[in-house]
Amino acid sequence: MTTSTAPGKIYLFGEHAVVYGEPAVPCAIDLRARVHATQRDDDRVRLSASDLSLDGFTIEYDGDQNARPDIDVPENLVSAAVGYVNGAIHQARDLAGGSDTGLELTIESDIPLGAGLGSSAAVTVAAIDAVARELGATPDAETVAERAFQVEAAVQDGEASRADTFCSAMGGAVRVEGTDCRRLGEPDLPFVLGYDGGAGDTGQLVAGVRQLRETYDFADTTIGVIGDLVERGERALDDGDLDEIGRLMNFNHGLLVALGVSSRTLDDMVWAARDAGALGAKLTGAGGRGCIVALAEAADVATALEHTPVCERAFEASLTPDGLQQE
Ligand code: MEV
Repeated sequence: MTTSTAPGKIYLFGEHAVVYGEPAVPCAIDLRARVHATQRDDDRVRLSASDLSLDGFTIEYDGDQNARPDIDVPENLVSAAVGYVNGAIHQARDLAGGSDTGLELTIESDIPLGAGLGSSAAVTVAAIDAVARELGATPDAETVAERAFQVEAAVQDGEASRADTFCSAMGGAVRVEGTDCRRLGEPDLPFVLGYDGGAGDTGQLVAGVRQLRETYDFADTTIGVIGDLVERGERALDDGDLDEIGRLMNFNHGLLVALGVSSRTLDDMVWAARDAGALGAKLTGAGGRGCIVALAEAADVATALEHTPVCERAFEASLTPDGLQQE
């Protein structure tokens, strides 16, 4: 058996705009997905997910990748989860020279699905690595990141950036602008996350922004402004200026609201965190439902979020330097 793990992430700045070539800065956080891969004697694939913030499921299939687990969660989330794993198996088999050996895969994840914390990227990165190694290949983290991006792009109908997958593979804070992906380091940033218990559909949210951008010039301008803000954010990160990082996070949230990807629950949590003294707060990831990230040391911020009716869970998270790893 081979086991690989990869972290989730939050976006300090730049989600959505990064899809159009603007820079973004995601940071890996200490919530991880873990994938165990074991070869089988036949050519079938059996996939068990013990926790994707779903109830857990097992499916077994051969060529028919339309097989679906019988569980009570939105079909689009399950389709996406199965799509990422199928894509990962395909990429890993290719890395291993086109093997068609059957596989037993078990996925465990601390990262809520569809909540803006990069669960799909972490599962895809860990799955590619675990399967490729189980089949005898030894890909480096950059190769896995690129293969994982191909999977995300396919599942998201060609509309994905390299940000989530590169960040998960490399760990730390990273900067992604088109194909230019770099690790920035390991800044000491204290985060509090608020989770509304829901999930956004990344594909749909990305498509919504594209439509807005095609309809209104100023939506395209808004995307460019997010890019300018990210450049400033990088300077603030370099200077260790937490106040400025917080102000820019607030600004970034406002621009995401303008692009139509926030929601009442995300906005309520953002305001609760700010009112409790966070230096800044914004939604993270695709939006719709899911998580907000606040820059805050204060336990007051977590408590305020816990008392916000729409918040199902509040928790502290810190940046992790550890990207893709084998166990
Ligand atoms: C989703 O986690 C982040 C988006 O920018 C999409 C992407 O970068 O692929 C919304």
